[in-house]
Amino acid sequence: MANGTHVLVLPFPGQGHINPMLQFASRLASKGLKTTLVTTVFIFKSIYSDHPIASTSFRTISDGFDEGGFAQAKSPDIYLSTFKSVGSQSLASLIKELGDSGIPVHAVIYDGFMAWALDIAKQLGIRAAVFLTQSCAVNSIHYHVSRGLLKVPVEGSRIWLPGLPELKIWELPSLIYHHGSYPAWFDTIVNQFSNINEADWVLVNSFYELEKEVVDWMSKIWKLGTIGPTIPSMYLDRRLKHNEDYGLQLLHPNTSACMRWLNTKPNGSVVYVSFGSLAEVGVEQMAEIAWGLIGTNAYFLWVVREPEEPKLPDNFKHMTREKGLIVRWCPQLEVLKHGSVGCFVSHCGYNSVLEALGLGVPMVAMPQWADQATNAKHVEDVWGVGVRALVDEKGIVRRETIKQCINEVIMGGKRGNEIKKNSIKWKNLAIKAADHGGSSDKNIDEFVAKITS
Ligand code: UDX
Repeated sequence: MANGTHVLVLPFPGQGHINPMLQFASRLASKGLKTTLVTTVFIFKSIYSDHPIASTSFRTISDGFDEGGFAQAKSPDIYLSTFKSVGSQSLASLIKELGDSGIPVHAVIYDGFMAWALDIAKQLGIRAAVFLTQSCAVNSIHYHVSRGLLKVPVEGSRIWLPGLPELKIWELPSLIYHHGSYPAWFDTIVNQFSNINEADWVLVNSFYELEKEVVDWMSKIWKLGTIGPTIPSMYLDRRLKHNEDYGLQLLHPNTSACMRWLNTKPNGSVVYVSFGSLAEVGVEQMAEIAWGLIGTNAYFLWVVREPEEPKLPDNFKHMTREKGLIVRWCPQLEVLKHGSVGCFVSHCGYNSVLEALGLGVPMVAMPQWADQATNAKHVEDVWGVGVRALVDEKGIVRRETIKQCINEVIMGGKRGNEIKKNSIKWKNLAIKAADHGGSSDKNIDEFVAKITS
């Protein structure tokens, strides 16, 4: 029965959204659904793949910027509003075209950042599931703002929300804490909840054990399914053959150089540093990271994307060639899995956090924007799998702080050992959730059963 059911999976066009949704598509395909990932024309042209995925088909829609994508638009506001208007029409045409060619769409799984996709699905009489790509904690905060239950700008220094730890206001997502910083993105995150009550399912990339209290609270509002962590199966439950990669990269990873270099390093001796696919780190901050890394006893593998390279201190690459390797992009999962890596200095993008957690790698958290400060709070205070490197009054994390945090995590000591112990605990819980009969596996089975009935 499942074999005849066809779902479209629509991530927002960015690496941090495509990875989890494509991985979820692979999971659904393994349970017998026919899955088609829909991305934009521009993203499709930019794809690089080491391990093309056979289980999911690809189709495109237009975001109105087929030649350059997000970078082609003059502002986030123009991009997001054009994507909504052009994307809506393009999606409706694609669904009709698929129907006409004998591969009708039975359900749409859309990224919450594209709430308009739900309207299209409903207009065409198709069932729809929203896929929330951020943690339940972050979704709950955004939900409270969307309903006016948490007023912005936020007043006071702390807030209390159901199922969440007490939060200092700087631990809120940046679009809430720095209200007005990016109005178009603020509208996008709040809009996720504008029509959510019409969605047939609400799926979240989390797992029950990770966020029990807030999941219980949110489950009172919607029929919520935690289906994560959406990490390729070979790193978790190992049940999906050949699923060792998300399957789609927008940047070309320097795999052989990274793995060759890591292979020469002792166990647990390398700090892996990455700020994901989007963050733009300031020149001063970049220098502090650089000098902080030099100050530790550890080796480092640092991902500095091409546009960020000019911000490195002069001659840094050459000067540190014995101690470090700097690459433009790496195979992050393979790197985290490597025995030589003992610590991950991360911006705490949600995928990076789930990957570190799922692979048992302790973290130093250096959040930059969006959901990252809230993720970092959980990394340190709730899950106990890392430490936060705190900013000074200028908003910069200084080299001494970076050095201390890395040493604390990588060299052991009471706190470091506790963090390592917790990292292993969460790794095992993540594997259990994804494995046969685990909390996420059961939710996925339930979803598949309903969608095919
Ligand atoms: C964005 C937001 O910034 C983040 O806060 C939000 O939670 C998700 O969307 P991004 O900043 O790119 O994502 O970070 P992250 O969520 O960590 O996703 C990055 C992905 O790229 C990860 O899956 C990671 O494995 C991958 N990656 C990163 C690589 O494959 N190679 C690299 O060198 C760096």
